[in-house]
Amino acid sequence: MKFCRVENLPPYVFATVDQLKRELRRDGRDVIDLGFGNPDIPSPAIAVTKLQEAAAKPANHRYSASKGITQLRQAVAEHYLRTFGVTLDPETQVTSTIGAKEGLAHLMWVLVEGGDAVVVPTPAYPIHRVAPALAGARVVTPPATGGVEAIAEAVRAEQPKVVIVSFPHNPTTAVASAEELQFLVDLAREREFLLVHDFAYAEVAFDGHRPPSVLGAEGADTCAVELYSLTKSFSMAGWRVGFMLGRPDVVAALTKLKSYLDYGTFQPIQIAATVTLREARDYPTEVCEIYRLRRDALCRGLARAGWQVEPPRGTMFVWAPIPERFRDLGSLEFALLLAREANVAVSPGIGFGEGGDGHVRFALVENEQRIAQATRAVKKLLER
Ligand SMILES: Cc1ncc(COP(=O)(O)O)c(C=O)c1O
Repeated sequence: MKFCRVENLPPYVFATVDQLKRELRRDGRDVIDLGFGNPDIPSPAIAVTKLQEAAAKPANHRYSASKGITQLRQAVAEHYLRTFGVTLDPETQVTSTIGAKEGLAHLMWVLVEGGDAVVVPTPAYPIHRVAPALAGARVVTPPATGGVEAIAEAVRAEQPKVVIVSFPHNPTTAVASAEELQFLVDLAREREFLLVHDFAYAEVAFDGHRPPSVLGAEGADTCAVELYSLTKSFSMAGWRVGFMLGRPDVVAALTKLKSYLDYGTFQPIQIAATVTLREARDYPTEVCEIYRLRRDALCRGLARAGWQVEPPRGTMFVWAPIPERFRDLGSLEFALLLAREANVAVSPGIGFGEGGDGHVRFALVENEQRIAQATRAVKKLLER
């Protein structure tokens, strides 16, 4: 049987490292897993308490609204005003999604069809390239290292219908200034494409950088949408609470599609998320500080191993160029070597697409002691 669409998906290289990790663990090895970006920090206590309370009420066991309950959309609009200085109408400019990933994937269904060009700076978070491809688009991949200029060049050459950007960026950890986002919004208006900003790391930034929302740029309400999520900022990955915000007709289109596809997140989760957004306001700062300490532990430890890596200004990752001596191996073989010889699992850069093969990505999802232990093992390997 031919499985249309999935057969054309690129092989998931992360699975190769994951498989080795499982085998090593089966052999009793203590593998430190800095591969998958799966947050280990607990969700806010208030989220758990409210979920328990709401789950005990039968009225919340029914189908919920796929666009999200009114209170939740209001709560995220309040959060946007407080945090990013952006005013949104919760009725027309906010729809709820089952995490940013689901929102982005289905958004492509309403935006593109066969042959439309979608620009995705690459290396990229895999769904950024896969979602437009699944919807039939031609995916154009300027180098993510080229910044907004490389995007502008691709736009001029390809006349895309959509451009997908994300800052702070996974995996390269690049950040953008408000001026750069304004440049992209101006370009979107001039060239008539929709600018989609995945803002998954909205509040995970360090050293004084405060990531701007694209919706704060002048004119963004006519040409941009943004995906926001509680996954990283509030460390609520498994809860699947995300939003698509911005240009009203795009919000309405995604809401309509999703009304056919799902009944929304379990209502007690929506209620707990509402209360969390309103009452756990400092949580993103606390989460961010934990990642900062881990980032520092990792970069310091790698530097001691003779592996100099620029500390990122955002995200929960460190994007490390493979040391010269091992560069010819490529990122997959190097990642397998790190797992086998140092008991450290990382993500091979090739998994994020073209331009990624010279790097590996460390996710800051183990505590500082474990990260220090990992860097000591890396040091031994590099000194051999
Ligand atoms: C850029 C980016 N977008 C989206 C996601 C997933 O977010 P969510 O859990 O809200 O679907 C991730 C998770 O790693 C990510 O790195």
